[in-house]
Amino acid sequence: MESARIALVTGANKGIGFALAEGLAARMGPDDLVLLTGRDPRRVADATARAAKSPGTRSRVEGRVLDVADAGAIAALAAELGERHGGVDIVLSNASALLTPDRPQSEQTDEFIDVANGATHAILRSFGAVLRPGGRLIVVASSLGTLGHLNPRLRPLFDGASLDEVEKAVESWRAAVHAGTAEEQGWPRWLNVPSKVGQVAAVRAVAARRRAGDLPHGTLIAAVCPGLVDTPLSRPWFSDFSQARTPAQAARPILDLVLSERIDSVFYGELVRFGRVLPWHGGTPPQDQERLLIP
Ligand SMILES: NC(=O)c1ccc[n+]([C@@H]2O[C@H](COP(=O)([O-])OP(=O)(O)OC[C@H]3O[C@@H](n4cnc5c(N)ncnc54)[C@H](OP(=O)(O)O)[C@@H]3O)[C@@H](O)[C@H]2O)c1
Repeated sequence: MESARIALVTGANKGIGFALAEGLAARMGPDDLVLLTGRDPRRVADATARAAKSPGTRSRVEGRVLDVADAGAIAALAAELGERHGGVDIVLSNASALLTPDRPQSEQTDEFIDVANGATHAILRSFGAVLRPGGRLIVVASSLGTLGHLNPRLRPLFDGASLDEVEKAVESWRAAVHAGTAEEQGWPRWLNVPSKVGQVAAVRAVAARRRAGDLPHGTLIAAVCPGLVDTPLSRPWFSDFSQARTPAQAARPILDLVLSERIDSVFYGELVRFGRVLPWHGGTPPQDQERLLIP
């Protein structure tokens, strides 16, 4: 990739997103620009000031308000960057709404799906269109995003699906949660599981369509898993954090992938954790949902 690159991170005012933006600013050049985005103006301004003052920072860091639940705002920012800078080099789609076990999942479904899945679809569409040759478009998903985590009945909805089909599957899951029929249809109770499968399926769908055009330019579209990281998002769902990474530790292998000069085609369109591809058909449906204390 050439100098004067533009990088953008969503949900970057804290957690893994902040560490990704801070890491980009430390590892990119002085002419490059890191756009640290989030939904709240005050939190974005504070985080941007923190990242700009961080001892390792070399690049320019600019804050931008971007509520990723708003597909129109995503499209507008992508169009603006396309017009003003001729495109974007690095897009890290990372934002997630908080999900808590102590409120019914159905009450939290819409925001959670809009932020995780709606945004993934919008970012793949809008930023995919302005990604410069040699660019990177990465969706922060999870190792829970492999197809085997779903009930076998539901897997055909996502396996080999187009982006429109993934979107339709996500909407049918949302409707089933609201109708109270999700469990009888086989959807896992923990919203994070189908959501992450949907994110990885969306990446696979877009990558399948773009692969032949992207690989000769070294362009990468992929999903990544950061591993278990101690943040407000993961805290309510796990009891053992002895092996958890800090956000900065979790960001490092993701940034190694994103900033590598040459992309191994094995990563293209796949879910990558710590530099390795997680097989799409891997995983098993969660058996011990009671452990998760979901009402
Ligand atoms: N933590 C883990 O163990 C773990 C494991 C696997 C995957 N992941 C994935 O890693 C990503 C980051 O997670 P994290 O643990 O760093 O979470 P986090 O600390 O809770 O941070 C989430 C970020 O998303 C932002 N956000 C929420 N709603 C938004 C919206 N509508 N528009 C824009 N930004 C919004 C939050 O902003 P506010 O401050 O304004 O709420 C915050 O900046 C997520 O995709 C998560 O699923 C995390």
